[in-house]
Amino acid sequence: MTAKAYNAGVLGTGFYLPEKILTNADLEKIVDTSDEWITERTGIKERRIADDGVPMSHLAIKAAEMALEDAGVKPEELDLIIVATLTSDRIIPSTACILQDRLGATHAAAFDLSAACSGFVYAATVAAQFITNGAYKKALVIGAETLSKYINWEDRNTCVLFGDGAGAAVLGRVDDGYGILSFDLGSDGSGGDAIQIPSSGSLAPVSKETIDKRLNLIYMNGKEVFKFAVKAMGKTVVNSLEKIDMPQEQIDWLVPHQANIRIIQSAAKRLSMPMDKVIVNIHKYGNMSAACVPIALAEAAHEKRFKKGDVIALSGFGAGLTWASCILRWSKED
Ligand code: UT7
Repeated sequence: MTAKAYNAGVLGTGFYLPEKILTNADLEKIVDTSDEWITERTGIKERRIADDGVPMSHLAIKAAEMALEDAGVKPEELDLIIVATLTSDRIIPSTACILQDRLGATHAAAFDLSAACSGFVYAATVAAQFITNGAYKKALVIGAETLSKYINWEDRNTCVLFGDGAGAAVLGRVDDGYGILSFDLGSDGSGGDAIQIPSSGSLAPVSKETIDKRLNLIYMNGKEVFKFAVKAMGKTVVNSLEKIDMPQEQIDWLVPHQANIRIIQSAAKRLSMPMDKVIVNIHKYGNMSAACVPIALAEAAHEKRFKKGDVIALSGFGAGLTWASCILRWSKED
């Protein structure tokens, strides 16, 4: 196909969070921790937890429906659905296919994408390529997780950090000068062991023995990831800016992955951005992996914090290790 130069931007956003709230005080009753430690070291005060029996797709559909309504796009207009997640309903089929059916997106190709906490920015960038080259007109991109189902509730190093939620964006053609202006995607698989679910695939299939050893749950070397993250999250935005010769001062908003307030603050410092220009919701929701960036984007959009023409940097990092950013000029009217 001949490459055509269309601009891909956000037509609408949506988000959904389960109602059940788990506070730091609740966690004090489960593991040896304190509200003071969690707040000071992470910035998290509470997180949302999906009920037993509620799969990730349930959250994703609600976020998707809100994004479609916000965009004024009907499901049958969608050409593509990508779900970024590490907690799909099942290994097969993909959750994107479940959504395709439930939404009635009768003309959409659908697949899941695995890039952990960088997943939504990876997925949005992939979807944007189809739109910019003219192959597709409308894509639904979702970041959704039910991490609570993979938490070791006896491990205070991890159980205080994670939560459940879903965020979505409908991407489509926008006017010249708007939409995704540049992106930076990267990976360093040599750090792959730092965040993993050891028994979750063909390397070590889930068995009674692996379950007894809690190897089917999230393991993280927090310190190692922290060191990587403080460098990666700001640097990837700088890389995206350099590709379009845009000075840092032109960024109006930073929408970062919400893993730790100290990591977010260091990225803001690297980009010389005051914290009131950084979208932060970690205190309410914790780390929801691929869902963090789209929920922060959607929540801020629905609070009318962005105006047409604002430059927004999305930035994520996570397991893989991976990192991803993109620079977006907001095209929606207030
Ligand atoms: O989105 C995926 C990417 N993930 C991340 O970005 C996470 C990055 N890492 C982090 O955010 C931080 O490393 C953590 C929040 C996970 C940990 O914070 P830290 O400041 O690096 O703490 P630490 O691991 O160095 O632990 C310090 C102390 C240890 O005790 P000792 O050995 O000094 O006696 C831990 O055992 O804090 C202890 N600790 C806790 N204490 C109370 C660890 N977790 C807890 C806890 N409550 N929940």
